[in-house]
Amino acid sequence: MAAMDAELEARVLAALARADAAEASGAAAHARAAALQKRLDANAHAAQRLLRVRFRRAPPAAISIRRATPVKWELDVTDDQGTTVPAVDVEVRCRVDGAPHPVTTTRVKERWLCSAPAAAFTDRCRVVAEAWVAGRRAGPLDVLGVAAEVRVVAGSGDDAPTFEAIRDLSFGDIQLEVVEEFGDACGSHLWNAGLVLASYISTLDETKLPDISDGGLFVEVGSGVGAASLALAARGCSGDVTDQGRVLALLERNIERNGAGELIRAVAWDVVRDEVPAWNVLGSWNVLVAADVLYSAEAAASLPGVVAALPDLREIWLAHTHRGAGDRLDATIEALSATFPVADVVERVRDTRVVVLRRK
Ligand SMILES: C[S@@+](CC[C@H](N)C(=O)[O-])C[C@H]1O[C@@H](n2cnc3c(N)ncnc32)[C@H](O)[C@@H]1O
Repeated sequence: MAAMDAELEARVLAALARADAAEASGAAAHARAAALQKRLDANAHAAQRLLRVRFRRAPPAAISIRRATPVKWELDVTDDQGTTVPAVDVEVRCRVDGAPHPVTTTRVKERWLCSAPAAAFTDRCRVVAEAWVAGRRAGPLDVLGVAAEVRVVAGSGDDAPTFEAIRDLSFGDIQLEVVEEFGDACGSHLWNAGLVLASYISTLDETKLPDISDGGLFVEVGSGVGAASLALAARGCSGDVTDQGRVLALLERNIERNGAGELIRAVAWDVVRDEVPAWNVLGSWNVLVAADVLYSAEAAASLPGVVAALPDLREIWLAHTHRGAGDRLDATIEALSATFPVADVVERVRDTRVVVLRRK
């Protein structure tokens, strides 16, 4: 009898253990289902909000590479108001010459940092990155809005950029070759606002351009690689292209590469630390152009003072990529509005626009 009891007790204990396990796995399954549902809800919610993927550093469309360095880029996801949407699943894919290529994607706060190892890159190959968010695909050319080709040409030494690239840009009749360094300095990379401003300039009626025969000059601040100024030079305009000192060597290379040295010159000007300079001895600065400089609180705050110190200025062309909450475009427009009200707003690519301010 005792043996019987023991056997029964063992069976009951085993049954109880199985029930516990079933309950535990049921709870785990329940938790998994809840987590999945939450993700689905987040994605569905995000999809309703018309998600957009922004490549912070647009992946190159085509590269050739001479160093075993990865190609890196960043992206984030915004809704149709330009507000960052962090709680969504993003899948990034990369292809080299059409074949799938590994890409590591690391989420850092509200951005995804992507890196594709260089192992499979041949001397001249095409690298394309795409992102899927809530079933939608975003690709770099969609973001850039213009055809771009990038070829890596150099990169050596300890503090060399990850790689250098030449991007062939084509805006109507204007063909530019822009050298970029995908290093740390934000001015060594061509940003969407720079592209958009160059594209805007290519479409402008001749009468809207600074008139060189009339002594009219433009000045670009925070020019980075100088795409907007190169576009202005391609249209026969003359002016000073300025940025912080560390960007100057690259800027000068771009001016030389595009044969624009007769019309434009690179000058170091830190708009926060330096006085408004008096190099415009050749004529007057009639137009101030700037692409994506309002991301810096100091640069944005210094702009009204710079404008006030330029009596001949007639127009300001600001290309701006919306930065979500805390974006400084409206405050800047407001600060300039007493003397330079908005004359025109041209939407070009998604969250990037050109705002033209004209003196009253
Ligand atoms: C986001 S990048 C845009 C570069 C370029 N305009 C484009 O759209 O490709 C911002 C630029 O502003 C420049 N910048 C930032 N602070 C500045 C300052 N205090 N004075 C002058 N330029 C500045 C950076 O060096 C960089 O070239």
